[in-house]
Amino acid sequence: MEKTLPYTWYTDPEILRREQDRIFRSAWQYAGHLGELPAPGTYMTTRAGRTPVVVTRARDGELRAFLNVCRHRGHPVAQGSGKRETIQCPYHAWTYGLDGSLRSAPRSDEIAGFPQEELGLCRVAADTWGPFLFVNVARDPEPLADALGSMPAQVAELGLDVDELVFHSRWETELEANWKIVCENFLECYHCQVAHPQLAEMLDTSADAYALSTDGRLSSQRGPTRRGGGTTMHLDGELPRSQFHFLWPNLGVNIFPGKPNISIGPMVPVSPDRTYRFLDYFFGPSVDQAWIDELMAFDDQVGREDRDLVEGVHRGIAGGGVEHGYLMGRSEQLIGHFQELTRAALG
Ligand code: FES
Ligand SMILES: [Fe+2]
Repeated sequence: MEKTLPYTWYTDPEILRREQDRIFRSAWQYAGHLGELPAPGTYMTTRAGRTPVVVTRARDGELRAFLNVCRHRGHPVAQGSGKRETIQCPYHAWTYGLDGSLRSAPRSDEIAGFPQEELGLCRVAADTWGPFLFVNVARDPEPLADALGSMPAQVAELGLDVDELVFHSRWETELEANWKIVCENFLECYHCQVAHPQLAEMLDTSADAYALSTDGRLSSQRGPTRRGGGTTMHLDGELPRSQFHFLWPNLGVNIFPGKPNISIGPMVPVSPDRTYRFLDYFFGPSVDQAWIDELMAFDDQVGREDRDLVEGVHRGIAGGGVEHGYLMGRSEQLIGHFQELTRAALG
């Protein structure tokens, strides 16, 4: 029987340091949505993993991303989001254009040969899929389209046009669990029947009906809607079934059956025993508020159930004494895939 990763990997700060170095430093990270940069002269701050990033749309309309780190002595230059011509660091007022160039630094005329041209913000990669904005702080990252693999095609095939979607809201939380426990919980529905009664009424989560597949770094789950399953959700609409995608290392994408909807967001390690998570919810432009409220309430309930599960697992694992767990064959094959990729990356 297949074993899980060693449980020490979920608590060891040295493992997390290696994960930051070898996994997160080169991975595309979902950072927000284009609605936050509606016009030339706007900026927004975000993070790629734990690296602070500022994304701008300068006068020329081009989308650019930079490390949100002042070249003087490292304070973040930008806070929040907004519309303005320049960004001024709050520490000593070095001022940058939205194109990243250093425009002025107080008393720089006192420094002979002050290398102003070399002291622009450090550029990093930014790219989009529909309204979804991704950043990557690696020196020479692969194209975003390569990283996303077949996910955009699978989503389109379901009948969801991501370009039409309208941002609704962001949900944020911190969980007292290692990031891998949070990802692994996302990657199986073996627990759905037991722990998510409402979800199990909506979707057929039985081993035969609930389809699991992998394609490169992408893991996908497709749950057919349960006919007459007793769900109180109104599932009539364009989308005949659910799709839950996971893009290694840490991106979750949820689509429920019914009207056009998607939620997308990363699971970010904060410390070995803490994970930051956010989900951006989007809906089709004509989806009514009542349906949105229904889905948000449903997903909130599932989220609370999952919180108890992953925090419970972390407490169990962190206690020491047990070395590893076991994976249940095909029902947990996506966890096996996740652990293989993680193990390979850590070397
Ligand atoms: S750290 Fe930004 S101006 Fe000094
Ligand atoms: Fe769950």
